[in-house]
Amino acid sequence: MDETAAKPVSASQAEMLQLVLPSDANTLGNALGGIVMHHMDIVAAIAAQRHAGHACVTASVDGIDFVHPVKVGELLVLAASVNSVGRTSMEIGVKCRSEQPRTGELRDTASAYFTFVALGDDGRPARVPPLITETAEQRRRCAEAARRRAVRLALRGDAPAADCCAANTDPGEAS
Ligand SMILES: CC(C)(COP(=O)(O)OP(=O)(O)OC[C@H]1O[C@@H](n2cnc3c(N)ncnc32)[C@H](O)[C@@H]1OP(=O)(O)O)[C@@H](O)C(=O)NCCC(=O)NCCS
Repeated sequence: MDETAAKPVSASQAEMLQLVLPSDANTLGNALGGIVMHHMDIVAAIAAQRHAGHACVTASVDGIDFVHPVKVGELLVLAASVNSVGRTSMEIGVKCRSEQPRTGELRDTASAYFTFVALGDDGRPARVPPLITETAEQRRRCAEAARRRAVRLALRGDAPAADCCAANTDPGEAS
């Protein structure tokens, strides 16, 4: 398999279900924020590793807003998607919803942008394949991710951002 070949967003999208147990909850019977973050990190890691074809580590997480509590006995419904790629890093968008098991009602719970870095066998950052965006929604997420990357780099005092979208290919652009 060609490890440098571009991959579509759909090839690495990940979904995960997690039952909230009493041991995951605070004294109000709501899932602890740290538990929700833990599962968001895992589903993001799955998407990152699928895209990179390497082990990946969490480099940073943009602010997480918890918009709705999740009760013990409810399900966390987690979804992760690669928004854009740099040279060795990837921004993964994660959405977490809660599902009421008796009614099936879904509610937005939390969302965040994770940056993962692929590591080669030597433990050093390794190149990731270009990303192919196929839908208008994916192209929008990619463009927004490029703007967030520029802000992150500026906050870290790194060199001005290279155009990370150069590593994100859009089959629609040629037509
Ligand atoms: C993430 C890590 C591999 C970066 O290593 P590094 O030697 O600083 O690597 P580089 O400076 O070559 O940067 C590599 C990539 O990571 C990105 N990066 C580094 N630090 C970052 C940060 N804090 N936030 C977002 N991206 C970051 C760089 O922008 C670069 O991206 P690019 O190749 O797409 O342009 C390293 O800091 C590390 O291992 N951190 C611990 C990760 C970990 O264990 N996470 C689990 C929780 S503790």
